[in-house]
Amino acid sequence: MPSPSRRIDAVRASSTVAFNTKAGEMKRQGVDVIAMTAGEPDFQPPAHVLDAAREAVDRGLTKYTPAEGTFALREAIVAKHARENGWEADPSQVIVGTGGKQVLYEAVQAMIDPGDEVVLIAPYWVSYPAQVEIAGGVVVPVHARAEDGFVPDPDAVAAAFTDKTRLVILNSPSNPTGAVYPRAVVEAIARTAREWGAWLIADDLYEHLIYEGSFTPVQPLYPEGTLTVHGASKGFALTGWRIGWGVGPQPLIKGMTRLQGQITSGANALAQHATVAALTEVEKTEAFLRETRAAYVERRQVLVDGLNRLGLPTAMPHGAFYAMADLTPIDADEGTAALRLLEEAHVGVVPGTDFAAPGFARFSYATSLETIEEALARIERLLA
Ligand SMILES: Cc1ncc(COP(=O)(O)O)c(C=O)c1O
Repeated sequence: MPSPSRRIDAVRASSTVAFNTKAGEMKRQGVDVIAMTAGEPDFQPPAHVLDAAREAVDRGLTKYTPAEGTFALREAIVAKHARENGWEADPSQVIVGTGGKQVLYEAVQAMIDPGDEVVLIAPYWVSYPAQVEIAGGVVVPVHARAEDGFVPDPDAVAAAFTDKTRLVILNSPSNPTGAVYPRAVVEAIARTAREWGAWLIADDLYEHLIYEGSFTPVQPLYPEGTLTVHGASKGFALTGWRIGWGVGPQPLIKGMTRLQGQITSGANALAQHATVAALTEVEKTEAFLRETRAAYVERRQVLVDGLNRLGLPTAMPHGAFYAMADLTPIDADEGTAALRLLEEAHVGVVPGTDFAAPGFARFSYATSLETIEEALARIERLLA
């Protein structure tokens, strides 16, 4: 049999997916597994967005859209950033892709060459290093500490820059830690990127899920070098619709659009149309966000208090829907500890290995309060 390319052999599988798959297999075998692995809201999307999708079907929006996205959606994205984040862009600075993930992939391809260095703040989302490596880049991690609530030290970030650095990725609120970086930290990192003439990606997927502190828009701090990445998946609970976007300097967006034109020809037409409703029917979307945020706040409290009470130190996250628990009381190796949680307590979590968070695991609280309470009870029995 012909063998796959070396490039594809080197692509790492996402450990989130691997643990989800294992939990799924156990479920199929009849084991009652609680999966706290997925990065996916458990809520139904807002009703007005679903209505817009039905309308799109009725109107027969079945054709290809422009590769960079429909004009209506790009306009709505521009209006969103002006209204909520206080910065203006032109629709020609926007690309809509098949999820934020695709936009990030194209951005990394468009920003770096083989051998270029990319500064990542660890613990980081697993797809960043994978995407950097596919592009031939070299990951330079800067570790944020649990004692600091996983907020990085901007001086340590600055110290990681060299004349080979082409890109730094910021993700606040963060997956996997839920950290929300203070304005001063964001400003300092943007200043460093600008001083070195490096690209900056602001991955803002979790912007709407902040419980304390406030969101700092990065784009105005460094407009000529920043790509803002956002999407419909997390805040609007539309993961399966696969709509994400990037806003940045026009030459970069043009390059990403050329690439996207060769890969997908553009995102799904129906989902693009429906996402316009999420961004323009502001009051309804705001009401949905208030309701879901309130639910996440309650769940977060129960989960974090519970884990700490059980002797698994867990910092209080201020955004997103994840908490990072220290699993070393179960096993010094986080992979072994997570496997014990899955196989003995039937609770699925994602070990910190691929997040560059040794000793830790990520718990997702995008699940019901009852499920969280049941998971805690199971972990308590395991520890006993
Ligand atoms: C930090 C971060 N960025 C980007 C994404 C991409 O999300 P999507 O492709 O669903 O827009 C995710 C999803 O898990 C994420 O956690």
